[in-house]
Amino acid sequence: MREAVEFGDVVLFSVPWVRIDEVLSEIGDGLDGKVVIDTTNQFGPDGLVDLPEGKTGAQVNKERLTGAKYVKAFNTLTAGFQGSAAGRSGGERAAMFFAGDDDEAKETVKKLIREIGFAQVEVGGTADAAVMEAPRREGAVYGEEFSKDEALEFLEGRKGE
Ligand SMILES: NC(=O)c1ccc[n+]([C@@H]2O[C@H](COP(=O)([O-])OP(=O)(O)OC[C@H]3O[C@@H](n4cnc5c(N)ncnc54)[C@H](OP(=O)(O)O)[C@@H]3O)[C@@H](O)[C@H]2O)c1
Repeated sequence: MREAVEFGDVVLFSVPWVRIDEVLSEIGDGLDGKVVIDTTNQFGPDGLVDLPEGKTGAQVNKERLTGAKYVKAFNTLTAGFQGSAAGRSGGERAAMFFAGDDDEAKETVKKLIREIGFAQVEVGGTADAAVMEAPRREGAVYGEEFSKDEALEFLEGRKGE
């Protein structure tokens, strides 16, 4: 894992939630200064894992991925769906939601999302990420397919709620 994070300019961090601390202790300070895309969702062996009161999963992970330029993305849709929906063009592209607090890292991730063939849709900072986090529920985008226009309209509609 250390070799993998040393090799990549951008690291896709995609391991089971309950393994994150173990993986981070093996990586050490390897994520320092790297753009890290976090795909994780807070599931454990018995279902959803409780997050600390008032915090999003993205905030929890940003804190423990010390030194990383953190962006959460690629977590709202199944891997199978992402594989089949990548590479679409124009209005056919599926929305890919992302959130983070580092503008430079978000620019990099936006470009990657587009290159892969999705439409990038920013949710905001890590404090705003709950809408893209599990579980699937009314009022959230987790687990749902949207076009870019539908996604923007949905997020706009939540403002003021
Ligand atoms: N699968 C999906 O459809 C999907 C969609 C969106 C988001 N997510 C989220 O993305 C994350 C990864 O999901 P996944 O389905 O890909 O999970 P997964 O198949 O269970 O695990 C992904 C990788 O984590 C590695 N791993 C597990 N324990 C490890 C450890 N202790 N040290 C080092 N590597 C370890 C595994 O490596 P080895 O194979 O070498 O063990 C595996 O390649 C999860 O947090 C999940 O909630 C998943």
